Amino acid sequence: MRIVGIEHVAIATDDLAVDAPFWRHVLNISHIATEDVTSEGVNTDIYDTGRGKIELLSELGDDSPISRFLAKRGKGIHHICLEVEDITPATAELKEKGIRLIGDEPTIGAEGYRIIFIHPESAGGVLVELAERPDLR
Ligand code: CO
Repeated sequence: MRIVGIEHVAIATDDLAVDAPFWRHVLNISHIATEDVTSEGVNTDIYDTGRGKIELLSELGDDSPISRFLAKRGKGIHHICLEVEDITPATAELKEKGIRLIGDEPTIGAEGYRIIFIHPESAGGVLVELAERPDLR
């Protein structure tokens, strides 16, 4: 597979109103979108540094993976996302190598990216997301 770069670093927050101003007003990173990803149970608040994004994740509903993460680990870095050129063969390659994935096939994430998560067990304790841009096909 070919990794193109770091797409975003995702940070879990229990209170967007408290945590967003640091990224938006102290670091002055452009806010580009806020999106509910209902399939993942998250609200994503997206900032673009120009060379990789920051995504603030907050819970959407009571049984959100973010609620579970916050209860277990507290707020802070949730996952890193690497942009991959073509996610279908990348997924097949990971399966072939016995890498543990979360879910079987890529799904649609924020901004229409096709995404799949690699389990931290296979990635040195880090939750890693791979994402393919929607506008390259
Ligand atoms: Co992500």
